[in-house]
Formats: sequence, structure tokens, C-alpha cells
Amino acid sequence: MSSTPTQQRLTISHIAKLFAEGRKIAMITAYDYPTARIVDDAGVPLVLVGDSLAQVMLGYESTVRVSMPEMLHHTKAVVRGTQRALVVADMPFLSYGVSPEASVENAGMFLRDAGAQAVKIEGGIRSARTIEALTRSGIPVMGHIGLTPQAVNQLGGFKVQGKTRESARQLLADALAVQEAGAFAVVLEVVPTLLATAITERLRIPTIGIGAGAGCAGQVQVITDLLGFTADFTPRHARQYTDLRSIIGDALKAYASDVADGSFPGEAESFTMDPAVLDDVLGIGQLDRPSDPAPIPLDQDL
Ligand code: KIV
Repeated sequence: MSSTPTQQRLTISHIAKLFAEGRKIAMITAYDYPTARIVDDAGVPLVLVGDSLAQVMLGYESTVRVSMPEMLHHTKAVVRGTQRALVVADMPFLSYGVSPEASVENAGMFLRDAGAQAVKIEGGIRSARTIEALTRSGIPVMGHIGLTPQAVNQLGGFKVQGKTRESARQLLADALAVQEAGAFAVVLEVVPTLLATAITERLRIPTIGIGAGAGCAGQVQVITDLLGFTADFTPRHARQYTDLRSIIGDALKAYASDVADGSFPGEAESFTMDPAVLDDVLGIGQLDRPSDPAPIPLDQDL
């Protein structure tokens, strides 16, 4: 038996336990290996390979554009970068919900081929049958209701959801449908605090809020918003903890300036060798080398 301690990867039972103990659950997005390692080392229990990948990493104008191969590629990198965190992969637009068979096949790829532990799909009542099919196949599912960016063309823009009687009733029904279909948690995106808190109090599974106030069981944010990494705007629901764009920009300006003035690389960043070896290679003998080599004037014929 190996004596090396191995990190135990968190499961949905661990998340249920955190929830049962009343501990708030942190979730953050990650899209690549080095960031995933930092997130894991920071002890964040849930990592989401969000389809926000489309906009924040791949430069598409909406999440609707990202494909299964792109999501799988980035999920694999995040799984390789984490040892402890439970990795949830976002299923891209139309990779689920068309038929239960295709949904299970596509979700299965995130677990079997990419190594994720769960998938996330958008939609409440409209996605309940899909959630059932996935969980029956042994695939843990996180639901996502409220502002569902894949449906932005239908929602008519990025607006707070659930402010009217009718839409608040709909959201509560959506949350219950997602829970009854077997999801282990549900994201509530851009929902008034009062409604999100009321939904949280009525569910047996944790609500993970983004722009849904402090009453949710956990919180999720897009990592580039928290780190100030993108040039675009920071949404109102995000708190920017650092200004990575300026930090990286300043470092790169310093590098370019050091290259330009010749101060990079210095001796510390360079490698030495025995000069005699190079003399042998170039066929230079002791006699060929002037004791005090004078520079050859540029206008002198050789
Ligand atoms: O894709 C994503 O990053 C998300 C979060 C905003 C919840 O779905």
C-alpha cells in the first residue's frame, strides 16, 4: 500500500453535509489548469466550468455559441488542476433537452471523458424531465434558474427575474421542480434577495446564488469578475477583489521595457558553459585569440 496521502475529492454528499451543517458554500468558475490549481489550493469546494467560458475566455458574444468540444477541452484542464474540489461542468446550449438519450450521452461525456463530477443545466420545469433522465443514469445535476443566459434571446435581455407575482410564482415552481427531479443543488441567478431567501427556506437542496442576495445557501461568481481580469464591465452582483488586468499590464510593460533596454535577460536568467568547449567547436586555438581583443572598426575591410 502506498503511504502517500491522497487528497480526497469532494462528492455531492460532502456538499449536502456542508448544507445540513448550515455552512455557506462557495463556488467559483475556472476554465484552465493553472487557475484551477489556485482555486483548489484556496480550498473552494465547488468549481464550475461555466459556459461563461464563451464570453470571458473565448471572446464569443454569448454563451449560446460555445460547443461541446470546447466545454470538454476546458473541463479536462480544470479536472487535471484540481484534487479536492467537486468539478461541475456546464452543459452547452442544445446539448441537453432535445432528447433524454442525447442529454444523457452528452452529460456522460463530461463525467466519463473529462472527469467532472457533475453537470449543470439551465431551466426549471422545462428541464425537469432532463434532470430526471440524468440523475437516473447516475449523473449528479446542478439546476440553474432565474436569469438563464442560454435563454437570453427568449428572456429579452439580462434582467432581474421574479419581480412580478407571476414570475415569482414561476420561479418558486421551477425551484421545486428542479429539486423533485433529483438535482443536488440549484443556481439562482439575478433574483431579488427576498424571493431567493424564500426559495432557499422551502428547499431541501442548497441554493447557490449569483446576484440573489445573502439568503442563499451558497454563492457562485465568475472568476474574472472577482479578479478584475477582463476589460469589460463588472456586473453589479460581483465584488472585485483585485485588479489583475492592471497587475498583469504593469508586469508586461516592465518586461517589454527590460527587453528593449537590454537589461533582460541578466546573468541570473542566463546559463554558462566552459569557454574552452566553444573554442573547440569553433576551431579557435589559444594563438587565434588576441590577449586584448580590439573591436574591428566598421569601415575596415576584412
Ligand atoms: O456559466 C457560468 O459561469 C454560470 C454562472 C454564472 C452560474 O452559469
